[in-house]
Amino acid sequence: MKKVTDFQQMKQAKEKIAMVTAYDFPQAKLAEQAEVDLLLVGDSLGMVVLGYDSTVPVTLNDMVHHTKAVKRGANHTFIVADLPFMTYHTSKVEAMKSAAMLMQEGGAHAVKVEGGGEVIETIRALTTAGVPVMGHLGLTPQTAGVLGGYKVQGKTAEAATSLVEEAKKCEEAGAFALVLECIPQQLGQIVTESISIPTIGIGAGSGTDGQVLVLHDLVNFGVDRVAKFVKQYSNVNHTIETGIREYIKDVKQGTFPDDHYSFTMNEAELDLLYG
Ligand code: KIV
Ligand code: NA
Repeated sequence: MKKVTDFQQMKQAKEKIAMVTAYDFPQAKLAEQAEVDLLLVGDSLGMVVLGYDSTVPVTLNDMVHHTKAVKRGANHTFIVADLPFMTYHTSKVEAMKSAAMLMQEGGAHAVKVEGGGEVIETIRALTTAGVPVMGHLGLTPQTAGVLGGYKVQGKTAEAATSLVEEAKKCEEAGAFALVLECIPQQLGQIVTESISIPTIGIGAGSGTDGQVLVLHDLVNFGVDRVAKFVKQYSNVNHTIETGIREYIKDVKQGTFPDDHYSFTMNEAELDLLYG
């Protein structure tokens, strides 16, 4: 299993880091078999597996529940779990208790927090207490309500400058890596060159040290619309829907189950049964 220091060495060696989300046992098992570098139990689970229209309704208990399932499926992979909305903002003590839940109960190796500003001191408190922390800047979905929706961030020189500053502060506060979401590719590259911890981009171009995608987006599973930065590598929707349709057809026609899928009682027992 990789460790935080391995990700830092990968950056130095210019070896790209591949991260994907997982929310349950089979997803985690498949991602581990595919040899992903690290897994994210993202609070995106609120949207892609629980059907909410944002990540805001996701609770700490939801995150613990899903992290435990992921852990059972991927026991040899580094697991990062998102601290969900409003579980790390009211105090550092609360942030530490929330992180402890994800690590001790859930089995995560690290937590991810969104934002700079006030969150920087929380990153410092968590890392000081022994919690590996991944930062997350750019488009931060938990604050989409304040940002005015899901839009590209850091497009002006001023916004870009402040994002670079926040990235440096995340590193200085002890973050071991940083997610950069939905920013211009040039800024992704600039941030990556400005800090010594690895950057993991999503919609941040190819200049970052690694990439992350939401699993359901990348395999087209249960999603109907995806962002511009999502590349879909397979079509699970089609596979699942076709399977279900064919099953329904067979049931309606009485062609499933045939003898192959049925159990048989021997003649002697049948005679006894009918007397
Ligand atoms: O929740 C999530 O899936 C994330 C990634 C998009 C980085 O935070
Ligand atoms: Na998230």
